[in-house]
Amino acid sequence: MYSLSINLSQKQYNIMIEKDLLSNVGKHLASNYNNKKFVVVTDATVDALYGNILINSIANQGFLVTKVVVPAGEKSKSMAMLEYLYSKFLDFKLSRSDLIIAFGGGVVGDLVGFAASTFLRGVPYIQIPTTLLAQIDSSIGGKVAVNLSNGKNLVGSFYHPEAVFIDPKLLETLSLRVLRDGLAEVIKYSMISETTLFEDLNRYQDEQEFLANIEPIIATCCQIKQQFVEKDEKDTGVRMILNFGHTIGHAVENYFNYETYTHGEAVAIGMAHITKGSELLGITLPGTAQKLIKLIQKYGLPTTATEYDHQALLTAITLDKKNSNNGLHIIILESIGKPLIKKIQTKEMHLYL
Ligand SMILES: NC(=O)c1ccc[n+]([C@@H]2O[C@H](COP(=O)([O-])OP(=O)(O)OC[C@H]3O[C@@H](n4cnc5c(N)ncnc54)[C@H](O)[C@@H]3O)[C@@H](O)[C@H]2O)c1
Repeated sequence: MYSLSINLSQKQYNIMIEKDLLSNVGKHLASNYNNKKFVVVTDATVDALYGNILINSIANQGFLVTKVVVPAGEKSKSMAMLEYLYSKFLDFKLSRSDLIIAFGGGVVGDLVGFAASTFLRGVPYIQIPTTLLAQIDSSIGGKVAVNLSNGKNLVGSFYHPEAVFIDPKLLETLSLRVLRDGLAEVIKYSMISETTLFEDLNRYQDEQEFLANIEPIIATCCQIKQQFVEKDEKDTGVRMILNFGHTIGHAVENYFNYETYTHGEAVAIGMAHITKGSELLGITLPGTAQKLIKLIQKYGLPTTATEYDHQALLTAITLDKKNSNNGLHIIILESIGKPLIKKIQTKEMHLYL
């Protein structure tokens, strides 16, 4: 069992990481949350695989628990689904002394977290992330959001959970593509932190060996995210380092209409491009890009997009909500484990593509 405590100015919460934790969630809730009703929100895939285990674990402790199931996939991160959740919460007479549980990948976590932050001006919630990406990234740090037709994550807030329960065993049922999607973020952490992650990822033979060692890997990734979130909760300073590969990655996802590349694949492309660019500019230690690209390819992720129009990609970058007319902050590596934030003019971005 690994346990981390996230300490923020207004909030403290714990992250627990343990194989088979799912069936013990009810017991943990019983020792902390008496007299509460629970609403579990999950997606159809996770529900079919694990819904009963979680519901039984909670119900066996004598809690009143109900379940809402949304379709699996990014389309559920919508205003329409948000309204659907509110109506279900009303049916269930959910009050601010009850608890919502987000049980799924990043889609469910973001949707349910935002619903919890807004319903009755805020109902407490718990994250039980079920994808690798959600277990190491999206369930921690409090960013919650839904998409609009104009773009991703355009309506959201910072709203931290009461607790995060991570059961790495759940990752065994992920498709290889969804697992690798999360692996891109693990690779990102290995490049921006001075940990043994980079050596570990290089040493493992394949995804199977990676999964066999998953508990400490998740704990390390959560610790790295914790450090950035504690220092810069609202993402205006050092937390930006977590966006390594994301400036180009978001533009790639957007350029291909979110259909060709998953988030992790696009981030892998973004990390490779920006590191090649910064190496050519003499900022990054020679050989870094090659080591990164080798690692990305080892885990079946792309390092460049099939075909794209440079100008259209640059336009997508300038339209990203994080960038202003005056320029943008990019994250580059001095070497593996040594990231830096660099402010550049938008017109300089082509040097990194
Ligand atoms: N809030 C943040 O800080 C943050 C950070 C990164 C990404 N995100 C968001 O996360 C979302 C992507 O999350 P995701 O990659 O987890 O996608 P997802 O939630 O869509 O899950 C991917 C697929 O895996 C399935 N699945 C989930 N758990 C499973 C399991 N244990 N076994 C088998 N199948 C399972 C889901 O049903 C879905 O089909 C995006 O909307 C992105 O914007 C948020």
